[in-house]
Amino acid sequence: MKVRVNIGKPYDVIVENGVLDRVGALVQPLFKAGAQAMIVSDSNVFPLYGERLVRSLSAAGFKVSGFVFGAGEAQKTLATVTQIYEAMAEKGFTRDDFVVTLGGGTTGDMGGFAAATFLGGIEYIQVPTSLMAQVDPPIDGEVGVDLPMGKNLVGVFHQPKLIVSDPETLGTLPDEYFIDGMGEVIKYGCVMDEELFGQLERGEVIDRMEETVCRCIECKHALYETDAAVENAHAALHFGHTFGTALEKLGGTAPLSHGLSIGIGMVMAAEVGESFGITEIGTAAKIRAVLESYGLPTETEHDFSKVAEAAAQNKQTSGKQLQLVLLKQIGSTVLHPIDRSYLVLRYKIAAEQHRRKQ
Ligand SMILES: NC(=O)c1ccc[n+]([C@@H]2O[C@H](COP(=O)([O-])OP(=O)(O)OC[C@H]3O[C@@H](n4cnc5c(N)ncnc54)[C@H](O)[C@@H]3O)[C@@H](O)[C@H]2O)c1
Repeated sequence: MKVRVNIGKPYDVIVENGVLDRVGALVQPLFKAGAQAMIVSDSNVFPLYGERLVRSLSAAGFKVSGFVFGAGEAQKTLATVTQIYEAMAEKGFTRDDFVVTLGGGTTGDMGGFAAATFLGGIEYIQVPTSLMAQVDPPIDGEVGVDLPMGKNLVGVFHQPKLIVSDPETLGTLPDEYFIDGMGEVIKYGCVMDEELFGQLERGEVIDRMEETVCRCIECKHALYETDAAVENAHAALHFGHTFGTALEKLGGTAPLSHGLSIGIGMVMAAEVGESFGITEIGTAAKIRAVLESYGLPTETEHDFSKVAEAAAQNKQTSGKQLQLVLLKQIGSTVLHPIDRSYLVLRYKIAAEQHRRKQ
């Protein structure tokens, strides 16, 4: 299966079980014969899939070297990027050469950023191996690294030349990361794909990962394409983020990952939407049921109004108003600008209504 990204410099995303062994053949037409490829990967993924990728790229005539960093988001820093630059400089990389990222979103973001900034920008190929990275490709090419003050604070826009996704690699992904990625899949269903949501409800997606990954990419791409006609259409993908990122900030006794926080944020946003009379009644319950069926939490230790207050105080969103993404019903969103202080008040009412129903 293939999705053609028609934004910026068009490129393909290929999604196919077992395609890892064909990366070299797919990449061959894109670069000069004998070009150098630097595989950027982490210490969990490279031992699992590195050899197959090296073999495939070498068979296609590329000179292959590797840079492997200690797995984990903590390594997504400028310090690691400097090491990638040094590895490429030592090999005498030129603008004809390229980077291949093999791993999850941490690897994709950081390897893409290194490529974007080395020699003023060289090409890169992504081979995503986590569910999160497969279903959430950098359509607009946003890549970057973290600072101690926050995630993804340093970055640029640099699109990959090709993305090659092999859903079979998800077989080795630890459960916690698979569940995290399912939060993202469920979000696509909520915001724009009612049929996908139905498949999720019926438990039909895990056995069809090729199709599911492709559907999610098509959703994200369609929203970015709509940006041309409807300003900020892709903001729909922020459904659940207002409350989810507030939850992440609040932390707690058992801090939740990004995906899990967004999942709870989606339930909260649906409840708020229902209390505003914007979201079809029963939507929050449907989202809750789907999240639970894939092992995602739907409750938080924090009081509803505390989360709303933290959301209202989010310093990364400027202005008196917040742009709340709400659902009309499953598969359809609406942007609802709301005064920060009003949000807290309205959320308190929603929380009260929710408590009474229980
Ligand atoms: N570029 C984008 O569009 C994009 C999209 C989503 C997320 N992100 C970024 O990606 C990060 C989160 O993504 P993530 O969850 O993939 O993080 P990650 O890359 O840190 O991967 C999570 C863990 O899973 C392991 N792993 C990945 N694939 C595996 C496999 N097939 N088998 C065994 N282990 C495997 C990794 O080694 C790591 O320990 C965040 O930094 C986020 O900002 C970027």
